[in-house]
Amino acid sequence: MDGKEDGVAAMAATYQGFDPAAYLQYNYTPPGADFENKDSVLLWKMGCLHRAFTEGDVSGELLVDIGSGSTLYQVMSGCEIFNKVILTDFLEVNQQELKRWLRNAEDSALDWTPFLKHACMLEGRQPSAWTEKAARLRSVVSDVLYVERAQPWPPHRLAQVCASLKKMGFTLIRLEVYTLPQDMRVGVDDVSGVFFAKAMKD
Ligand SMILES: C[S@@+](CC[C@H](N)C(=O)[O-])C[C@H]1O[C@@H](n2cnc3c(N)ncnc32)[C@H](O)[C@@H]1O
Repeated sequence: MDGKEDGVAAMAATYQGFDPAAYLQYNYTPPGADFENKDSVLLWKMGCLHRAFTEGDVSGELLVDIGSGSTLYQVMSGCEIFNKVILTDFLEVNQQELKRWLRNAEDSALDWTPFLKHACMLEGRQPSAWTEKAARLRSVVSDVLYVERAQPWPPHRLAQVCASLKKMGFTLIRLEVYTLPQDMRVGVDDVSGVFFAKAMKD
């Protein structure tokens, strides 16, 4: 194996035994996803996504979400703009979790209702419109596919990110940074922040 394959194999090994229910519980319930806390990283992420899809410069027929994991919040704004959405992940357990919600099964590991309500509110709709958004999302997601990036994930450091986007021919439209408040740095990882980059290929 060359270095690149080593990196992908190491990533695959890291994800062995991955438990989507535990992931959702850990990352998508308070304090990480707290609809009562305006500083919650989840609200920041959903705000970034809402802005990105409603600024008028994103359109097309097909939205492909790479590395969906077992989550749906990231396509709750985009699903109103695109008529077809494809979710992807390389873990079968994550694909199964997404499919459970899409077929309205009762054993979804997480109730996405508050997320759908919040996405509606960002769009200026009543939270009660969440049922319409859920129906829209279920109707536009045409597939949940296996995708494995052959390349290692892009660099995680902001300097590096901007430089490699430029190198690959992208123009950066928007870059937003969220710094994790000290009281939320209670996790098992060493994450100190998240960035959101919106870029367009020239
Ligand atoms: C940081 S998680 C994001 C999950 C989810 N979208 C979220 O916002 O919480 C990245 C996802 O990419 C998937 N992944 C990791 N390495 C991958 C690879 N080489 N090819 C495809 N997917 C990969 C993992 O299974 C994981 O679900």
